[in-house]
Amino acid sequence: MPDQYAVIGNPIAHSKSPAIHAEFARQTAQDLEYGRILGSLEDFAGDVRQFISQGGQGLNVTVPFKEQAWALADQRSARAETAGAVNTLIRLEDGRLRGDNTDGVGLVRDLSANHGFDFGGARVLLLGAGGASRGVLLPLLETGLAELVIANRTAAKAVDLAALGARLGPVTGCGLDALADKRFDLIINATSAGLSDTVPAIPDDGLRPGGWTYDMLYGDQPTAFCRWGQDHGASRALDGLGMLVEQAAESFWLWRGVRPETTGVIKGLRGAS
Ligand SMILES: NC(=O)c1ccc[n+]([C@@H]2O[C@H](COP(=O)([O-])OP(=O)(O)OC[C@H]3O[C@@H](n4cnc5c(N)ncnc54)[C@H](OP(=O)(O)O)[C@@H]3O)[C@@H](O)[C@H]2O)c1
Repeated sequence: MPDQYAVIGNPIAHSKSPAIHAEFARQTAQDLEYGRILGSLEDFAGDVRQFISQGGQGLNVTVPFKEQAWALADQRSARAETAGAVNTLIRLEDGRLRGDNTDGVGLVRDLSANHGFDFGGARVLLLGAGGASRGVLLPLLETGLAELVIANRTAAKAVDLAALGARLGPVTGCGLDALADKRFDLIINATSAGLSDTVPAIPDDGLRPGGWTYDMLYGDQPTAFCRWGQDHGASRALDGLGMLVEQAAESFWLWRGVRPETTGVIKGLRGAS
């Protein structure tokens, strides 16, 4: 029987992960099957244990279970530890579960490897202080950026998150209203404002000439924050589809020790949407 993997979340029907991993497996000739599990809101741990007891080798974990997966993991990577959330569970040989978080690597790799953004010396603004921001904090601080400002509608949450990262790199936190007079080379939107087709309230001149914007959200049409970037002089206004594929590729590598090629997969998803 092929090795078994799956993505678990609630809801889950919309997930692109099965299609992405099926393509990775085909491309790398790995003998595996990757399904989707609608996780129970009452018993996530039970669902995971059942999958593993039936021979499952690994899981991707998505909303709303990433924090529960962190708690369930028997051991965790440093980036999962900082994130306080796990999006990848790996079954170890002795049956215990290792938790990792590949979201941040996915974001950084999409920006730098796929699009050529140079983090060295860059001033970066990260909007939002929820799970997505926390998940990318350590990989962002490891890029060699000059300054990371986390800004959130609820300022205290950004200040707390920045305090968590302060021993790891140059990061500060503030409210959205404290951004006047600040200019950035890259603005990353990790808020959920786009789900209601709006953008966080940030200054019109927050982007330096030639600066980039990146929305973790993606969709069939340009997201509200992509449109904000285009309207405010961004030289590149990217969405989060590449991050989705890159975080999947990192999970695949953790499970299989093989790194799939991602460019064609991103193009395929873009064409299919
Ligand atoms: N591409 C990918 O692979 C990927 C991976 C992970 C996440 N994401 C995306 O990232 C986004 C955030 O997810 P999450 O898990 O971090 O959500 P979350 O934990 O619920 O946090 C939501 C954040 O958005 C802020 N926010 C919500 N509405 C806002 C508005 N109208 N104006 C300004 N700020 C607003 C919240 O601020 P307050 O604290 O003030 O409420 C909070 O900081 C989602 O759209 C998700 O789809 C994408």
